[in-house]
Amino acid sequence: MRHLIDITDFTVEEIEGILDLGDKMIADPDAYKETLRGKILATLFFEPSTRTRLSFESAMLSLGGSVLGFSSADSSSTAKGESLMDTIRTVSCYSDIIAMRHPKEGAPMAGSLRSYVPIINAGDGGHNHPTQTLTDLMTIRRQKGRLDSMVVGLCGDLKFGRTVHSLIGAMSRYKGVTFVLISPPELKVPAYITDELKRKGIPFREVETMEEVMPELDILYMTRVQKERFFNEADYIRLKDTYILDPEKLRTAKADLSILHPLPRVNEISPKVDDDPRAVYFDQVRNGRFVRMALIKTLLDWRNEA
Ligand code: CP
Repeated sequence: MRHLIDITDFTVEEIEGILDLGDKMIADPDAYKETLRGKILATLFFEPSTRTRLSFESAMLSLGGSVLGFSSADSSSTAKGESLMDTIRTVSCYSDIIAMRHPKEGAPMAGSLRSYVPIINAGDGGHNHPTQTLTDLMTIRRQKGRLDSMVVGLCGDLKFGRTVHSLIGAMSRYKGVTFVLISPPELKVPAYITDELKRKGIPFREVETMEEVMPELDILYMTRVQKERFFNEADYIRLKDTYILDPEKLRTAKADLSILHPLPRVNEISPKVDDDPRAVYFDQVRNGRFVRMALIKTLLDWRNEA
């Protein structure tokens, strides 16, 4: 049985198959509306979410399936002391596939060892967020027509930003990709990721301002400083507004730059940027539903074939 815990659980070919199917679903959603009639998706969210949970639910409903689940640990028997392992085993008796988000890194991986059905990691702490990465890849491919040969700038909280970690894992498998990592020293990408980039010979550099690299970027991936991951509120307050993208900072950017953000945003992109044609963060939101439709269908097809 296949799960999606880390984006590299899938080959490049498998990921591109999911993106292709997502593109077909965007072009003709009606053709898929009965595809998963009778199947049930469980969404187990032990941490807050708007996009990920609702896009999973919208995706399953759009395929003719049904959904159940909870949106906070407080409304489940976790509040009574039930272990994660028992919760997962229980819910896997009631559903055909599970999407789960948890504040502890590794929780979806642990859950997958006890589940009777495929588990999808919908974000685990400051570690990974592979379905956001599918959304990001789909958006970049629809914008640029390719996933190789580009300069990708990642800006903000690169230490706790799980979407950044998964996106680097995915895009480092494409030829000609260079990463520019823009963060204050306190929020640099963890060493286990940069060590892997060095080991594979993938070009990257670390800088502290977006202005110094703006003209060379093909992609600018902005991120929120993750208040919920800080141990110390004073550090959060000091760092939270380090980067604020506004029209002035975009003056030197390429005409075909694509500006992405996994959302939610706080202050890091001025609303004045929203009407710039290079801003595609709400395209990401729209694509997220379709790529999750493609993912759910693919995982259930693989299970049937096994
Ligand atoms: N991008 C993302 O994971 O958003 P939510 O936290 O709203 O799900």
